[in-house]
This record gives sequence, structure tokens and C-alpha cells, in this order.
Amino acid sequence: KEQPVVIQGAMEVETADLIEQMTEAREESFGPWRCVRGLVDGHPVVVSETQWGMANAAALAALAIERYRPAAIISQGTAGAHDPALSVYDIVLGARTVNESAWQSRYRAAGAGAPMEELKQLGVFAWDAQAGKFTQEVYHAADAALLAAGQAAAESYRRGRVVTGTIGTSDSWNCAVDRVRFLHAFYGTACEEMEGDAVAQIAQSFGIPFLDVRIISNSILKNQDPWDLGTGPACQAFVLSLLRAYWADR
Ligand code: 5AD
Repeated sequence: KEQPVVIQGAMEVETADLIEQMTEAREESFGPWRCVRGLVDGHPVVVSETQWGMANAAALAALAIERYRPAAIISQGTAGAHDPALSVYDIVLGARTVNESAWQSRYRAAGAGAPMEELKQLGVFAWDAQAGKFTQEVYHAADAALLAAGQAAAESYRRGRVVTGTIGTSDSWNCAVDRVRFLHAFYGTACEEMEGDAVAQIAQSFGIPFLDVRIISNSILKNQDPWDLGTGPACQAFVLSLLRAYWADR
């Protein structure tokens, strides 16, 4: 029996169009969160509306893994640009994700300030099946087959560019240009959001293939602010063509 693909989005505007595509859709209860299980092109999918943030997304990932043993998990939705070349409606395929809040600051005395340039990267603990232990890693790599499906979907995406890069996650929204530039240089991030790496961490620990797909909805570097929520449906349309490429290759 085919295992489902779990697709997460934080908001209704990031999940409703995928739910609309489903046949045999039925609501699945995970406490107060909205999750819908059904078929897309005859293949099983589960769409979870996680709400914003790392803890919500990670909790729903763990619950979905326990209930469905999914074939794959995709975190998708909007993001803010870190790469000055990216514009609203461009898409980033997360070849890797990074938790941008996992750092240690060097000692400084009271009144000596807290310059972000002095941070040391820490990473977060996830199960490393090869090492047979939990290891602390700064970056989490995407699943190669999901990434390849994203690259196949990129060929028919007309609303912007599609790039493959690093996606940064934290429960923060950065609007200070200098901080965005710092994070871009420090982690090599193409964009920032609030869920992806938390899900990558849990997916790695359970050995579930994972990919983060993000559409740029705002760029403080290009004065594209406030965010354009028309990007939510555009991202879901992209994910639908990614899923079709993924299933075609199975
Ligand atoms: N910074 C952080 N999160 C962002 N999101 C969109 N743009 C940004 C940004 N610039 C996403 C997050 C979260 C919600 C605020 O939208 O992933 O779900």
C-alpha cells in the first residue's frame, strides 16, 4: 500500500489550494490543527495547516510520522528573501535547511554589546543513522529524489525563477537589512521562514525523506514589503507539479 506524502503549510492561504485538489478528502484530527487526508491524482496525501512557527510544525511532523509513516514530508509556503537577487514569486528549493537561532555568543562583559558577527554556529541534535547516535548538525540536507522532482517542476514554472539553495528557519522575522545581510553571509541562506529546519530535524531522526520548498513573498532587500500573499497559491501550484514529477518517477 502506498504511503502518503505529508505536505505542511503554516496558513490557510498556503494549504487551501492543495486541499481543493483532493478527492476522498476527510478531516483528520490532531488536536486543534486542521489536517486533511485524501488523494491527489489517486496518490495518498495529507495536508497539515500547522500555524506559524517551529514548534507547531515539528509537533505536527512527529504526529504525522507516527500516524502515517509517510513516504515523504514537504514543508512549503512563503519566505522572506536573504539573497538580494531574489524577488517576490521566485522559488527556493531547499537543498539544505539551517536553524538560524542555533548559535552561541562569545563572552562579553556587561555594557560591552552583543555583536552578531561574533556568533558561533551550534546546530541542533538529530538522529544520525550512520553514526548510530544523535549528532549536532548546523545544516540538514534535503532528500535527493524530492529535490530532483522540484527541479523537474521548475521547468514549467512561469511566475519567477526557481533556485536551489539554503533555507534558514527561526521563529523570527527580520526586517533590519544589516541583520538579513549578516544571516545571508553567516549561513549562506537564500531566504528565511519559520518552519522548515524544525521539520527537517524531526524527519531526519525518523528517517523520513524531506524537502522544504519556499516562495519569496517579501524582500526587505528590494523594498518588496509587506508580503504578497498571492504567493501562497503559486507555491501550492508548484508543489502540485513537484508531486506529479515525484510520483511519475516512483
Ligand atoms: N521571515 C520569517 N518568516 C516568514 N514567512 C514569510 N516571510 C517571512 C519572513 N520574512 C513565513 C513563515 C511563517 C509566516 C510568518 O510566513 O514561515 O509561517
